[in-house]
Amino acid sequence: MSGDQSDPILRLDDVRAGYGSAEDIIKGVSLAVEETEIVTIIGPNGAGKSTLLKAIGGSLAPRDGNVYYRGMDITGQATHELLDAGLLYQAQGRNIFPEMTVRENLLMGGYTLDDGEIEAAVDRVCRHFPALTERIDVDARMLSGGEQQMLEMGMGLMVDPDVLLLDEPSAGLAPVVQSDIFDKIEELNRNGASFLMIEQNARQALSISDRGYVLALGTIELEDDAAALLENPRIRELYLGGEAESRP
Ligand SMILES: Nc1ncnc2c1ncn2[C@@H]1O[C@H](COP(=O)(O)OP(=O)(O)OP(=O)(O)O)[C@@H](O)[C@H]1O
Ligand SMILES: [Mg+2]
Repeated sequence: MSGDQSDPILRLDDVRAGYGSAEDIIKGVSLAVEETEIVTIIGPNGAGKSTLLKAIGGSLAPRDGNVYYRGMDITGQATHELLDAGLLYQAQGRNIFPEMTVRENLLMGGYTLDDGEIEAAVDRVCRHFPALTERIDVDARMLSGGEQQMLEMGMGLMVDPDVLLLDEPSAGLAPVVQSDIFDKIEELNRNGASFLMIEQNARQALSISDRGYVLALGTIELEDDAAALLENPRIRELYLGGEAESRP
């Protein structure tokens, strides 16, 4: 039942998921994230990327198959139970409370913590995100898009998760701010966190990733090292805009 050292930190075995009585959107997906890896899922709009992450992150129960965290079966567990275990799921879109201050938002992110742990968690998150420290008493709605995304990540980091499931963390941000988000993900990864993320910005996401999966029509079409995906002519044509990859 419980895992050992050799288990990947996250593993999916033939997961199927969908909505209501409609046919499966996710049609049997198996994948793995090893400890301290960054893994990116790319694929066309409507491929089922968000649905897959929901089925891992506890907002949609898989219809079949299993999800394992460090070898423990977590299939169908709720998002807050997963958070307690160390696995953070952040859905697509900005999940912050605009009318609350930065500090109040961080406290919401740490709602599962004991009272005695909360202040230390706020301090730790503020060290990761100095921009938030400066704006700690400002309403979240006053922040820039990039700061709001930092706040959302900060809320998730209140519980110090070791796996982060992120659905389009750079969406809707200016290119320079997107780079800040990817830098932050790399920094957190260097500190030991593992990532499974979905990104439209496939080029930048893959450039900080160890491996990638291509999801199309609810199945994994291709899995490879991120560097190989960046060089793959078909992937470049379909998902990377087709232009030259690297400049000196
Ligand atoms: N709540 C829902 N109820 C019913 N169908 C849904 C729901 N959410 C998504 N779908 C359908 O599931 C399919 C996959 O959607 P999903 O959001 O998982 O795709 P995606 O790969 O994340 O797309 P995008 O790149 O646009 O974010 C689509 O056909 C969509 O219409
Ligand atoms: Mg999506």
